[in-house]
Amino acid sequence: MSAAIEDLPLDRVDGPIVILTGAGISKESGIDTFRDKGGIWSRHSLEEVATPEGYAADPEKVHDFYNQRRRDLLSADIRPNPAHEAIARLEAGWPHRVLTVTQNIDDLHERGGARQLLHMHGELLKMRCEDCAGVHDWREDATVQSACPACGRTGRLRPHVVWFGEMPFFMEEIERALAEAALFIAIGTSATVYPAAGFVMAARDYGCPLTLEMNLEETDASGVFRHALEGPAGETVPALVKRLLSARGG
Ligand code: APR
Repeated sequence: MSAAIEDLPLDRVDGPIVILTGAGISKESGIDTFRDKGGIWSRHSLEEVATPEGYAADPEKVHDFYNQRRRDLLSADIRPNPAHEAIARLEAGWPHRVLTVTQNIDDLHERGGARQLLHMHGELLKMRCEDCAGVHDWREDATVQSACPACGRTGRLRPHVVWFGEMPFFMEEIERALAEAALFIAIGTSATVYPAAGFVMAARDYGCPLTLEMNLEETDASGVFRHALEGPAGETVPALVKRLLSARGG
């Protein structure tokens, strides 16, 4: 059941904060989510464009899928929204570590000012060479003819994105952060994809005293969170950050 922000026991929080974000935090910036009505998986086959098998079967189709999302992300009208910017303010003003673990492959957290950031599902603006393992910034279209900037081989560059069936990045660092969190917040994620969907349970098992889900609606994980704040992230996240920082005299 969603609380009012003033009813949340935020003045008791005095330690590191871990924030998990999903596609919902970028929705108000104009980037589609995956599972909302009309979302990405209603227009593309996940199996064809977001699995190693799909890439092996038709690499050009996969490159085209990510090329279009990269072009969209780099278009002038896609900018960080107040939720991204509020997280950066919290990171700068909070007396303990604030770590953002994002499932998103866009760069809106960075452009919103966040620095303590882990892209557990990779990054749309990077490519990885399957020969030399080099990871390179990449802002143009990619094809099977694209050459690795390090080793020069063609046909071996893939999106630096974690596909279904692959292990997300930074899992050990994430686990360590969950073990120390005084507050765990999930923003804009449907809690349908593991391991991210299980982070709230891990945080609680480590004794995290306060867990908060921020979404437009309940999710499969809502019963695990102690608190919920319903509403668009662009409104609820700035309000939450203001309450947290004012409780610390920030
Ligand atoms: N504010 C807050 N939450 C929102 C907003 C908003 N403005 N708009 C949508 N949401 C919520 C939706 O209610 C939904 O619960 O964001 C969530 C988006 O869920 P998904 O589309 O499933 O995205 P996500 O949870 O990030 O998906 C996880 O699945 O396909 C893979 O790798 C992909 O990282 C992705 C992972």
